[in-house]
Amino acid sequence: MLICNVVGARPNYMKIAPIVHALDRRGLAHFLVHTGQHYDENMSRVLFEELELPKPDVYLGVGSDTHARQTARVMMDFEKVCQDRRPDLVMVAGDVNSTLAAALTAAKLGIPVGHVEAGLRSSDRTMPEELNRIVTDHLSEMLFTTEESGNENLRREGIPDEWIHFVGNCMVDTLLRRREAAVSGAPWKEFELSPGGYALLTLHRPSNVDVKVTLQSLMRAIAAVAARLPVLFPVHPRTRNRMMEWEIAPPDGVQLCDPLSYLTFLGLMAKAQLVLTDSGGIQEETTVLDVPCLTLRRNTERPITITCGTNQLTEPEPQALVRSLERIRAGDWPKNRRPPLWDGRASERVVDVIQNWAASRL
Ligand code: UD1
Repeated sequence: MLICNVVGARPNYMKIAPIVHALDRRGLAHFLVHTGQHYDENMSRVLFEELELPKPDVYLGVGSDTHARQTARVMMDFEKVCQDRRPDLVMVAGDVNSTLAAALTAAKLGIPVGHVEAGLRSSDRTMPEELNRIVTDHLSEMLFTTEESGNENLRREGIPDEWIHFVGNCMVDTLLRRREAAVSGAPWKEFELSPGGYALLTLHRPSNVDVKVTLQSLMRAIAAVAARLPVLFPVHPRTRNRMMEWEIAPPDGVQLCDPLSYLTFLGLMAKAQLVLTDSGGIQEETTVLDVPCLTLRRNTERPITITCGTNQLTEPEPQALVRSLERIRAGDWPKNRRPPLWDGRASERVVDVIQNWAASRL
């Protein structure tokens, strides 16, 4: 059996890395395809090194473009890879365009698809990721879920029970493995911050950063936090481009930096007083790290981070953010109860499922 693992963008690497390692431990044949959706050093190569991912066997180099063109490019190139190498299973992760493109290509060639982080739903179809999730799930025949809401969503959409595998969270496998190394690097020193004495901010959702008035009002809200606590803001390229185009300056007290490596960011997150974000993965990571997270969105596809974790959705209003900051400082914030199966062994369970599936086809 030959397994093809596909990555394309930053959030894919930490989900696929532990699966690659588990496949290696069991001596199963696999190869790695990087679509090149993300290509900057800090969005790609550096993370590969830190996550001990092997150099990709195939690099498609598709780069940035409109959704249709980027998706189509991955499909055209990945089809050739599948035809040449004939994998028995294609594994994709998350909800980026590369995930959808690889899944669609494989399914059309009759190659079974496994989807890591299946079943999440924000019920907001204006999010490109929501469309990618829905379509990828319905093209897959092995759906690996991270939380109970994912199982329920898939059942409601008519996915057969025997295709749904509640394995836990592969990204958490990576986090638990690398947390100590990340913290021992004391990355806050480089930014002249002290542990517990800063907020960490990330913003890159099109709904937040692609509309000028929205981005401006977000910055006004962040200013209220920054007046009380230093804010470190690693700026995603999408956001950097918009801030430059619209000449939006960061508020006082906000320190900008380039996108950070996995370990640097993880170390910073672990010792932040709070994290402000519109990312999906960071809501999960802060839950495991037991760090308060304010999600600057109206919805989340990861409800377990609210019911079980340290995450709260928030309006991008100065008063709302200040109220939350005060609650956090008063110790009045939900404590993390670790979500079921977020135990560092999710990728072992993924590979168990793959092996059982392969055995049943003999
Ligand atoms: C993509 C994913 C999003 C994920 C995010 C994580 C989709 C639809 N979106 O969004 O789900 O949360 O990655 O980062 O797949 N750019 C660079 N260098 C890079 C990559 C991108 O400068 O290495 C710039 C380009 O100007 C590009 C823009 O960032 O046009 C957006 O990149 P793109 O991959 O289209 O989407 P993301 O916003 O990164």
